[in-house]
This record gives sequence, C-alpha cells and structure tokens, in this order.
Amino acid sequence: MSRIDNLMARMTLAEKLGQLTMTASSYTVTGPVIAGDSTQSIIDGTIGNLLNMVGAGPVHEMQRLAVEKSRLRIPLLIGLDIIHGHRTLFPIPLAEAGVFDENLWERTAREAAREGTADGLAMTFAPMLDVSRDPRWGRTAEGPGEDSWLNARIAQAKVRGFQGNDLSSPEAMAACAKHFVAYGGVTAGREYAAVDISERNLREVYLPGFAAAVHAGVATLMPAFTDLNGVPMTAHIPLLRDWLRGEMGFDGVIVSDYNAIAELIKHGVAADLVDAAVLALKAGVDIDMMADAYRKGLPIALEQGRVTIEEIDASVRRVLRLKEQLGLFDDPYRRGATPEPAAVVARRHALARDVARRAVVMLKNERDTLPLSAAAKALCVIGPLADASTEMKGPWWGAGEHEPAISVLAGLRAALPQTDIRHAPGVAIESDDESGIEAAARLCDGADAVLLCLGERATMSGEAASRATPALPGRQQALAEAVMARAHALGIPVVAILFSGRPLVVPWLSEHADALLAAWFLGVEAGHAIADVVTGQVSPVGRTPMSWPRAVGQVPIFYGQRPSGRPMNPADYFTSKYQDVDNTPLYAFGHGLTYGRFSYDDLQVAPPRVREQDTLKISVSLRNVGAREAEETVFLFVRAKVSRVTRPLLELKGYAKLRLKPGEAGSVDLELRAAELRLLGPDLQPLFETGEVEILVGPSAEQTGLLRQTIELC
Ligand code: NOJ
Repeated sequence: MSRIDNLMARMTLAEKLGQLTMTASSYTVTGPVIAGDSTQSIIDGTIGNLLNMVGAGPVHEMQRLAVEKSRLRIPLLIGLDIIHGHRTLFPIPLAEAGVFDENLWERTAREAAREGTADGLAMTFAPMLDVSRDPRWGRTAEGPGEDSWLNARIAQAKVRGFQGNDLSSPEAMAACAKHFVAYGGVTAGREYAAVDISERNLREVYLPGFAAAVHAGVATLMPAFTDLNGVPMTAHIPLLRDWLRGEMGFDGVIVSDYNAIAELIKHGVAADLVDAAVLALKAGVDIDMMADAYRKGLPIALEQGRVTIEEIDASVRRVLRLKEQLGLFDDPYRRGATPEPAAVVARRHALARDVARRAVVMLKNERDTLPLSAAAKALCVIGPLADASTEMKGPWWGAGEHEPAISVLAGLRAALPQTDIRHAPGVAIESDDESGIEAAARLCDGADAVLLCLGERATMSGEAASRATPALPGRQQALAEAVMARAHALGIPVVAILFSGRPLVVPWLSEHADALLAAWFLGVEAGHAIADVVTGQVSPVGRTPMSWPRAVGQVPIFYGQRPSGRPMNPADYFTSKYQDVDNTPLYAFGHGLTYGRFSYDDLQVAPPRVREQDTLKISVSLRNVGAREAEETVFLFVRAKVSRVTRPLLELKGYAKLRLKPGEAGSVDLELRAAELRLLGPDLQPLFETGEVEILVGPSAEQTGLLRQTIELC
C-alpha cells in the first residue's frame, strides 16, 4: 500500500478537510494575524497548510507540530508570495518582462526559490500570468504586460526557475500559475471588478500563458478572484474542470485565492458558505485559502448528499501527492536546513543589479542627452523619488521589507564621487504642497544636467491599487514644469526618470524632457542600476512590454488590435479615430532605445511557400550606425493577409538579440515553425489556414519601423 493510500485509509473527515485548508500563520509578514493562532489546529490535524510565514525557525517550529504532534504526522505545505524576489528584491515582473531574456527570467526565479527555500518555504504563489492591456489596473505591475506570446515564454521560464527539475530538491519550490484567468480584463481597470471578454480573446490572449505553465509542469494553480462572463473563476467548471483538468491534463493542486470561496456569496452565486464550498469543490478547487468554507461547509454538504466523499478524497490525494513530490514526508526540514553563505547573497545582489539595469527602458534620448558627459561637474537630482529608497522596492516586497535598497541619489553619489550632486525633493509624491518647487528649480543654476525623478509610490500599483488617472500624482507635473522651464532657460538638459508599476500617461513630460527613462520599480539595486545606465557604464536594453497611452481614453491600448473596416485615414472623416488624440500610443510595445543606433536591412525569409510541418528561417542585417556599442533586441511579428477571422494587426512570434560595436554590421537569425501560424478558425478550432502571411521584423511594434516579406502557407 502506498503512503498516500495508507494515510487516506486512516484519515477522518476532519483530517481530510484539514489537508484542504490553508491558513495565515501567527508569523505573518504581510499584516496582522488574521486566523488567530493555528497551533492547536495543526496538532489536531485540522489545518494542513499555511501561508504568510517567514524564516526557517518559525517554519520548522510549525512543521514540528505537524510531524511530531499530530496523529498522522502529515507535514504542512507552507507558501508565500514571491512576486519579484524574496529577500533580495528584483525589478517588478512588468519591468523584468521587458528584458526579453528567458535565461534571466529563469535565473531570478531560481534565486528567489533559493532564498525562499532557505527560509523554509516549499511553495510560492507565483508566477502571475495576467496579461494586462489596461494601465489603470494596479496589478499590471505584477504581470507580463500586454502580450500573450511573451506571457507564455515567461510562464515557462518562471516555472523552470522556481521548480527546477526535481521538486524534492531542498532548493525547489512549487510554483503557482495565477490568477486563472483573464483577471487583467477587469471592467474599466477597476480591481476585483467583473470580467467580460469573448471566447476568442480568452483562447487567443489569456489562456496560452496558463497552457504554457501547465506544459512546463507547474505544480499548482490559483483561480482569479473575479468572474468571467458571469461565472466566478473559483466556481468555473468549464474552465477549471473541463479545460484545465480535462483538455490540459493538469492534475496538480488548485488553491483558491484569499477568502475567494466565501466571496462566492458576495458574487451572488452561492447562498451561504455551504453552497460556496460545494461550488468550489465541484469546480475542482483543492485548497481553501482563508475562507474556512471547506471545514465548515463540506461536512454539511456531505451529509446533504451535495458532494461525495470521493470528490473530497480526490482533492486530498492531490494535496498529499504534492507534499510527497516536494519531499516533505521524507524530510520536512530539508528546506531551510542551512543558512545561505554571505557570498551567495552577494552574488544574488550582483544579479539583481544586472537585471535592474537591463530593465530600464530609455523611451527618449534627444541629441544624445544620455549618457551623461563624463566631464559633468554638477548634477541636480530632483523630485520625490530621487531619495526614496523604500519606494525602489516596488509593490510586493514580501520578506524583503527590511532589506536596504539603493536610491537614485545614493547610486549616483556612489558612482560619481567627484561630482557635485545636489538634491531637492521639490514636492512629496502625492501632497498638494507646492512650497518646495521654487527652491528645487533654483538648484539647477550652474548644473550640467538635471535628473528629475518622478512617478508613483510603490503601493500605488499592485493589488487593490487601480488608478482612474494613471498620471503623475500630486504636484509633480508642476514641479516638472518649473524645473524644466528653469533648466531649459539656462540651456541645461533634463533627464526624466519615471518610477511606476504601469505605463503612465505623460505626454507633456515626453515632449519636454530631453531624455526619458522608464525605471518601473527596480528592486534593491535600483539606484546603482540607474547610475550604471545614465553614466554609460551600460547601454540601456529594456523594452516596454506595454503600450504607453497618450490619453487615458485610449485605454485599453495594445499593439495586437484587430483591423477596422474603416482604418484611420486623416483625409476621410468616417474612419476609426478620435477627434482629440492620435490613435497611436505614445510609445509602442517593444519600444526602447539604446546608446547605439541600429539600421535594419535585407530581411530574408525562406522558404517562400511553407507547409504546416515546415520551419521558416528568417534573417535580417543590422548595422550600428551610432557612436557607442550596444545590444539591440529584434522582434519578429506576423500578420495573416487574408483570413476568415479578423487577425490582430501584428502578432509577436519571436525575438533575438545582437550586440554591435559602432560601425559594425551583423545579422540576426530567427526560426519560426509554421505550425505556430495556426489560428483559431471561425468555430474557435485550431486551423492552419492557407494563404499569404506577412513576416515583419524590427525594433518594436511600431508599424513604420518594420521590414516585411510575404510568404505563402500552402
Ligand atoms: C491575494 C492575491 O490576489 C494573491 O495573488 C495572493 O497570492 C494571495 N492574496 C496570498 O497572498
């Protein structure tokens, strides 16, 4: 008899439901104790899983209660959100998406897993795979941005990174693909609001990231808080049971979001907690996080014949199997057995700095304002985010709450010890007080350049942080205007550095700043990373994974829109346009400048006629016509010319990178399996449609910058 069969035969109903319950522990890191002290329940075997614990000491202490004091000695599964690093905070996921580097995506997850497991954890609630096309939604910060292909690549890299190839390794943890699905489509970008999207969009845009995570072997998955087309995801039988478990063959653990089972009552689909528990269990949700609906509701439901013991058992088995795969039965203390050596932590900081500087997106750089001249004697670092070390960490600092982070000011002072670096905040991030603006503007006198550090507080993005007007908060616009007026009157260039968990609506700043950097939130090494970029130690390589709107009214805005029957034409009134703003984004998906300048030429695509089993070979020549060495990211898009369903104007299918010295030329090779050109036909079934397809290659999704070649699918 296997260990699991043996346990199943001995477990009482209360013990079974304990395995289906996850509770916040007494050692919370994200807030006050919510569930009270769970100690006795762990001993009783009626709580089998915990969240929000940190530190090997407390984790082992709790584990000891389960494996030494409980009747059946079943170890606990203990999880925590590791969204952008555990103790060593990396750039937020949105920023990291823009590095377009699968190896780095995997490495940061691997390092976070090392750090998390050193703290005793065996599970994390990541990666977050919510495509977002709406910067009003605060959780945009935690995700991959607007593109579904990119999301799928990130999903696989992150699952590999967290889980490695052996879940029982002391450095591996179970990943959790979340939030299933289409959470990023909340109405009007408002957190937790209803989602209503078409079946086609669901299948083309939102499901592929989860499919990729399942293919990569993700151990767990979390349904979103939201409903989809009228059915809350926590109770979504067609998607959880039929698609995920059925079509995709996912047999891992589904864990509800925080209190989400009880929230089925507020959604209006469950009459009470018993009803809610029945709905969630029937949909295939195994673990109830924080609602206590399974423990309270399932015994009653069982008695009333509304669920069967077999249904409960199936979930219990999945949880026990996960614990077994994680090696928790064999040695529940393997994670966190030894503290990490200082050298390992130091190396991780080097990685954090490397990713952070790669994540910086140079949106604009007029007249080569950046890098700063090495001859600069005085720099002004102005703005509420210049000396804001805590903000640099971003919205989800987890166990990194007390880790020091490097501010822009500190980073620059460390990089340029001989330079006179002056600082004034000018205004606070959100306050109405303008009294500091004049002094800040005066600081510019005699400086060689001004770095204006503006943007959001870290917690203005993340969960429950939607913003109807995702622009500069408080009086930062007034500060920018005053500083820019003064500096420009004196002939001093202004570099604006934006911190945010989303693209911001900043058309004025974009027009007037001489250079503009999107620094998102870069983590503990932020200030060093920014200093590396602005001083020219490294050339920027980051690309924006979301389109930047010119006006909030353009939202949702994304490059993969479908064509209109009346495409925008300035000469024709009755075409698809706004009267007051251009259709195009301020910055397109994939946009990001480097210190080089790349010309593209000679796109070759072969063969010209392809069948489904063929692979296309694509190459393009690049020359760095700029004055500095740099690395270029080259994107591959496709577009079906005629199709029986409308296809997006562009679809991303690949990317490649090339580093070139000034004047140097080289070429980039890309491959594309023709099978990837399959689309969902009018009946939503996969279809390899014959006909002409355009292959487009270039530096971003901006149409004018793309080289194109037409091939034929036959
Ligand atoms: C709620 C969030 O939606 C989810 O992403 C997170 O994993 C859980 N809380 C646990 O912290």
